[in-house]
Amino acid sequence: MSTETCPVMELPKLIEPGHYSIDACRRVDLPKIEEPRGNLTFIEGGQHIPFDIQRVYYIYDVPGGAERGGHAHKALHQLIVALSGSFDIVLDDGRNRKRIHLNRSYFGLYVCPMIWREIDNFSSGAVCLVLASNRYDESDYYRKYQDFLSDVKRQQL
Ligand code: TYD
Repeated sequence: MSTETCPVMELPKLIEPGHYSIDACRRVDLPKIEEPRGNLTFIEGGQHIPFDIQRVYYIYDVPGGAERGGHAHKALHQLIVALSGSFDIVLDDGRNRKRIHLNRSYFGLYVCPMIWREIDNFSSGAVCLVLASNRYDESDYYRKYQDFLSDVKRQQL
């Protein structure tokens, strides 16, 4: 699977149940204040991303060749940013699959619920920042791809 360009989200929009798909997962261009002394990017919940931020986490010190993700969320909305370095995100809605390369700290990838994601190809020193619409809740996860797929098919009936 080759790396694809991701559609850009012009006006942030919360994707509602029934419309979850990899095409609903959009690149968000974040504000960037450029100055000779360095750049600054900021993210406001409900303003630059279509949800209020309840949780922030980040993945770092990833050993070469390691993979993260490997799950889907039932109701969680997320924005994923390559704060430093780069990595790939494979998005899968149970029907289609695509690979997105993230390598700019002023681009975010909005990922709606019901998307299986795998994160790999981490560069050395990469930091993956995730802004999430809810607190950590293990019951919101699909940890097994087959369970995810069964629910995608059931919801399509
Ligand atoms: P997990 O979501 O599986 O990480 P990855 O993004 O690589 O798939 O989480 C790894 C572990 O960290 C798991 O035991 C749950 C725990 N965890 C929390 O306690 N709080 C959190 O906010 C997150 C994201 C994970």
